[in-house]
Amino acid sequence: MMIVASDSGTHLPRVTLIVILVTAVTGDLFSKATRSKADEKNLRNSVFDFIIIGGGTSGCVLANRLSAVPEWKVLLLEAGEEENIDYDIPGVPTNDFRPILWNYRTERNGFSCLSRPGGACEVRTGKVLGGSSVTNDMKYTRGHKIDYDGWHNTGQLRSLEWQYDNLLEHFKASEDNGDYDVLMNSFYHSRGGEMRVQRFKHTDRFVEMFSSAFSEMGLRTLDINTNIPEAVVINQFTIFNHTRQSTNSAFLKPVRYRKNLVVITGVTVTKIVINKQENAIDGIIYESERGKEHLAYAKREIILTGGAINNVRLLHLSGIGPKVELKKHNITVLHDLPVGSHYQDQVTTGGLAFALNDVPAVNEETIIKDFKTWFQSRSGPLATRGINQLSAFLKLYENDNNAPDVEFSFEGNFIRSDKFLLTNVSVNAIEEFNLPLPYYNLIMVYPVLLRPKSKGKVMLNRKNPKYGRPVIQANFLKESEDLDSLVDSIDIALQLLNTKELKKADIRFAPIDLFPCDKLRNRDQWNCIARHYTKAISNPIGTCRMGENSTTSVVDYQLRVHGIEGLRIVDASVMPTHVRGSIYAATVMIAEKGAKLIKTDWKENNGRYNRR
Ligand SMILES: Cc1cc2nc3c(=O)[nH]c(=O)nc-3n(C[C@H](O)[C@H](O)[C@H](O)COP(=O)(O)OP(=O)(O)OC[C@H]3O[C@@H](n4cnc5c(N)ncnc54)[C@H](O)[C@@H]3O)c2cc1C
Ligand SMILES: *[C@@H]1O[C@H](CO)[C@@H](O)[C@H](O)[C@H]1NC(C)=O
Ligand SMILES: *[C@@H]1O[C@H](CO)[C@@H](O)[C@H](O)[C@H]1NC(C)=O
Ligand SMILES: *[C@@H]1O[C@H](CO)[C@@H](O)[C@H](O)[C@H]1NC(C)=O
Ligand SMILES: *[C@@H]1O[C@H](CO)[C@@H](O)[C@H](O)[C@H]1NC(C)=O
Repeated sequence: MMIVASDSGTHLPRVTLIVILVTAVTGDLFSKATRSKADEKNLRNSVFDFIIIGGGTSGCVLANRLSAVPEWKVLLLEAGEEENIDYDIPGVPTNDFRPILWNYRTERNGFSCLSRPGGACEVRTGKVLGGSSVTNDMKYTRGHKIDYDGWHNTGQLRSLEWQYDNLLEHFKASEDNGDYDVLMNSFYHSRGGEMRVQRFKHTDRFVEMFSSAFSEMGLRTLDINTNIPEAVVINQFTIFNHTRQSTNSAFLKPVRYRKNLVVITGVTVTKIVINKQENAIDGIIYESERGKEHLAYAKREIILTGGAINNVRLLHLSGIGPKVELKKHNITVLHDLPVGSHYQDQVTTGGLAFALNDVPAVNEETIIKDFKTWFQSRSGPLATRGINQLSAFLKLYENDNNAPDVEFSFEGNFIRSDKFLLTNVSVNAIEEFNLPLPYYNLIMVYPVLLRPKSKGKVMLNRKNPKYGRPVIQANFLKESEDLDSLVDSIDIALQLLNTKELKKADIRFAPIDLFPCDKLRNRDQWNCIARHYTKAISNPIGTCRMGENSTTSVVDYQLRVHGIEGLRIVDASVMPTHVRGSIYAATVMIAEKGAKLIKTDWKENNGRYNRR
């Protein structure tokens, strides 16, 4: 591909930096374009074979796989900073990650998230090297075969590669499973990959108790990653030595020494520069601070891995998006594509909490001691995640799908030993106050809709498109089916309280303050609670979905942006629908698959895809 400095804006100096850098033998044209030796060196240093935008879950995997080819020079750019060991302690509660999040929230809509602060739901995605794999719950769930098989039902030949049976190898490529009972099933699992997957060594009495309660209700203990419809699960996590293994620590850290790999943190890409004549990429503009612009050029490809929300902002700012949206901001439309539509997130509700008895209060000294223990030997309570280690997957309705609809997910919290004082504690207050996960006397039960129907969209911030928070219209619970499924799931969760296990331990519904739903009863009350205390799971997908054509999708089945040469999107945003689990494992798989596609194109087809 040629590198031609684009004329698409005032930002880019008109450096006539053509083909030469590709062959880079003589300096003829090159020296004409530059004024000094220093300029020349800078320019040379800003040219890469591949530029990866976003050092998140997927970006770190790609940086590893592409820089494994010694003759490819790879640049990885990340808006956040380096990962810190404090984030890697398994017992650290979710709220402690706020300093390394983008801190996005959904738009108010009048039908969900009503009693959340500002009438909006928080959407948490990581802004740090490793991205959301540093801030997530680390659970390793792949989802179900029928989800993946649904992605390719358009009949296009290339789409068949996305059949589940063809994706298994990519899951296994990165997997280093450390649990022998799981590993026995070698059809699904493997060893030797970069990413360690295993259970924590210890559970606690409530994990055992709730697991037994689900067994009483008829669930079996099985490996959820083997395409089964229902199970109670002691989760596997991406941990090594009881330490979080983000994709940064699993894939990037071990190869940071590679000379052909450049990683820059603390920089935000603000534009992908497209050559209008050729509909091909030239390079990118990134900022180390607001307004301080730098350039980098890509000889082969730009790979976008900024996640389902940030990808939309960058593409729209670059002139790729729905015409009507871009026009609102006077952005020249280079390619009219449905970037930002089909936004989906999994959804749940707060308000369902069980109070535990006889849990001794924990004092600060003990917690400090426990942190020391973790740092010294990677053991002790902080080397667990308490009740979060448990999940239950369930089919809600009789149908032909032999797959789960809901995951019951749990989080412990410590409020006060006297449960009667709970009456005045609000749902929001309970979710905000956090001790580390292993110390809890309250269990929050979250029924997560794995395949919600409601869809939304992401758009640029109206006042400040470049730096402002993107507008996220999540439309949670817009489809009445979602509300019904959520309330049906709550019914099932409440049945837990009738099990012998939980009765024996006198575990009861926690009487927290459910205002304004406190006066209602039964289903009306739960409908109200779900609408008021809606919670985003923060597994956003769909904004750059893959598909056949540019009317309904953004990338093709090889993850190439329709109609633009040299631009691929390889992260959770390309998923056309959710998979029936969380999406971390699926995202790593997409990165592995993407790396294969790229290598095939450039190695076997000599980059001929450019002339498609
Ligand atoms: C609280 C929470 C808990 C979760 N728990 C689980 C779980 O237990 N199991 C599971 O399977 N999934 C879980 N998930 C979901 C899963 O981790 C993420 O959905 C997935 O990792 C997303 O990967 P990604 O590569 O698409 O995006 P990300 O990992 O978010 O990466 C995007 C990266 O790009 C960077 N970036 C974006 N735009 C730019 C730009 N313009 N310039 C430079 N850099 C940029 C961002 O800073 C970020 O680092 C959880 C998510 C959250 C938020
Ligand atoms: C777009 O351009 C028009 C005409 O020049 C101007 O009136 C309008 O304010 C601009 N809108 C924005 C969002 O910049
Ligand atoms: C686990 O971490 C501890 C503390 O840093 C260290 O002493 C131990 O060697 C590590 N174990 C493994 C298997 O890496
Ligand atoms: C709860 O709040 C109400 C009014 O705000 C107050 O009258 C009552 O004493 C409180 N109850 C407890 C148990 O703190
Ligand atoms: C685009 O793809 C969608 C989904 O596969 C299909 O329904 C539609 O007919 C296609 N449109 C065109 C113009 O080919």
